[in-house]
Formats: sequence, structure tokens, C-alpha cells
Amino acid sequence: MVTTRLTEALGIEHPVIQGGMMWVGRAELAAAVSEAGGLGMITALTQPTPADLVAEIEKARALTDKPVGVNLTILPAIDPPPYDEYRRAILDAGVTIVETAGANPEPHMDMFTAHGVRVIHKCTSVRHALKAQSVGVTAVSIDGFECAGHPGEDDVPGLVLVPAAADRLTIPFTACGGFADGRGLAAALALGADGITMGSRFMCTQESPVAPTVKERIVAGTERDTNLIFRQLRNTARVAKNAVSDEVVEVLARGGDFADVRELVAGRHGRKVFEDGDLDAGIWTVGLVQGLIHDVPAAGEVVRRTVADAEQILRDRLAMFASPAAV
Ligand SMILES: Cc1cc2nc3c(=O)[nH]c(=O)nc-3n(C[C@H](O)[C@H](O)[C@H](O)COP(=O)(O)O)c2cc1C
Repeated sequence: MVTTRLTEALGIEHPVIQGGMMWVGRAELAAAVSEAGGLGMITALTQPTPADLVAEIEKARALTDKPVGVNLTILPAIDPPPYDEYRRAILDAGVTIVETAGANPEPHMDMFTAHGVRVIHKCTSVRHALKAQSVGVTAVSIDGFECAGHPGEDDVPGLVLVPAAADRLTIPFTACGGFADGRGLAAALALGADGITMGSRFMCTQESPVAPTVKERIVAGTERDTNLIFRQLRNTARVAKNAVSDEVVEVLARGGDFADVRELVAGRHGRKVFEDGDLDAGIWTVGLVQGLIHDVPAAGEVVRRTVADAEQILRDRLAMFASPAAV
């Protein structure tokens, strides 16, 4: 058992969180992670309406008695989703743990706190983590440059970001981005984190709703098979390397702007990748860590072996370095 400030603050067994994932974070996956003692996360905006989100939360509750969280990603948009209505649905459904991402959680904190919700804020820099701490979140999850999705613009990998966060934060935090196994969990703990949040690893599990070809591609993929798109727009996203993301990189590098790639990056095409398994239908998200993903296990198995392997590394391998004479 690896007990940390995070497991205590959230009332979970293992310090392993499944981060919110658009089109992927549905009830079956989130419930499987929670049932194994980690913390699964339903992704609010994957549900077309707040009422559908409530139904998805109920579905997860039918699968596990353990807490399941909800990710609410608040990104600036020309035509934003009704964030307040999704937040209302989360509160009405009695959810007790929320992962916020994409913007300062401050405007939402009063309502969450009043309802006893513990907030984990996902961010990509120490300064944003400190800001989140100052507005009363329970924990933060800090995404290094390795991560799938939005790594921010600072390009600081976890090896520096995690201990830098540990030096400054007083609340528990998870290291996020680039984690797939017990080696990662043991390393995160050594660097000062209280646990890990994983995305890509949980996307490549049996309960993940993405098409089998996507999982096969992740297993076959290496740490070199991602692209960083939107660098010039200062809205960087790490996505799978494919014909579409190659074209987006090229068009923007030639001086194009968002209008020139808008159709290429449209979310409906990316969704087709996950639903139909056509790997070049659009942009889809995955991290460098695919180079460490070699199978498609049950999500609960990922939680169990990550924790068991980390324990073994901490107990045997690292202890050996501390006192070689004892071995
Ligand atoms: C397919 C996919 C979709 C994602 N969608 C979201 C999202 O909607 N909101 C969010 O906060 N993070 C999102 N993420 C990021 C993950 O929660 C997590 O921060 C990231 O995957 C960590 O990096 P890793 O993949 O190396 O574990 C997504 C990740 C993936 C792989």
C-alpha cells in the first residue's frame, strides 16, 4: 500500500488518477479505475448535455461504490459550452471530486466548496499551481511537457517541473504526463509528488471506448510518434503523428494561421478516429508515453500493477542502493 497525502485527502486507496480525456473518459473506464482503488474521471464535455452527464455519473455509480470524479475543462471558445450548467449538473449529481483544467478555477471555487467538492486543478506550471493553491483547491495535478494534450508554452519536462512544484507547493499534487507504470510512480514519489495522473495509459485499456485500431497504434507507437501543433498560436497541443497533424504543422510553419487549418483540426474528424478507427481521419491526442505502452490490459490491472511494481522498486531496487551491504 502506497499511502500519501493525496490518498488521504481524496479518500482513495492508491495514488493513481485517470485524467479527464475528451471522448474517452466515460463511465466504464472511470468506474474501472476507481473500483481498483485509483480515481477514475468522467469527462464532462464528452457528454452532449448536462443531463447526459448526470446519466453517465449514474452509470458509473452502478458499476462501483467508490468515488468517481468528473473533469470539467474550461477552455476559452468562440461558442463555449454552457460551463455553468455542467457545473450545476456535477453538483446536483452529488459528485465529491472534480478535476478542473484549462482556466483559473477561482470563479467556480465558491460553489464547489459550498457543496463539499474537493477540486484537483490540472495545470502546466508552478505559478499556475501556486495560484490554484491560493484559491483553495485540495490538490493539483501538474502536467509536464511530455503530456498528451496541452503542455502549455514553457516546455518544462516533469523531471524539473515535479521537484520545482514540490519545493513550492504545500498541498498534495500529482505528477502528470509521461507516466505509464510502476517505474513512473516510484520516480514521481522520489521527485516529491504525492501520486500520478495518467491519460494515454488509460486510453489504451480494455474499458477505454476508443476503436481497437487506435489502441493497436498506441502499442506500436514509439516516443517519437507525436506532433506538437499550434506552437505558433501559443496554444500548443501534443497529438498523434499522422498525415493530418503533419499537414497542420507544415501549414503553420509556412506562416498559415488558424483559418488555414480549422477544417483539418475540427473535433468531429478527431472523434471519427476514436469511433471508426480510421487513424488518419483527423487529429487525435496521445502522449510521448506511448513509447512505454506495450499492451491493452484492463484498467484495474493498470492500477494494480503500477502500484505493485512501484512498491517493489521502492522496497527492493532503491533500498539496494541505500544499503548495498544488506543485499
Ligand atoms: C485522448 C485524450 C484526451 C484528453 N482530453 C483532455 C480533456 O478534455 N481535458 C483535460 O483536462 N485533459 C485532457 N487530456 C489530458 C489528460 O488528462 C492528461 O493530462 C494527459 O494525458 C497526461 O499525459 P499522458 O498521456 O502522458 O499520461 C487528454 C488526454 C488524452 C490522451
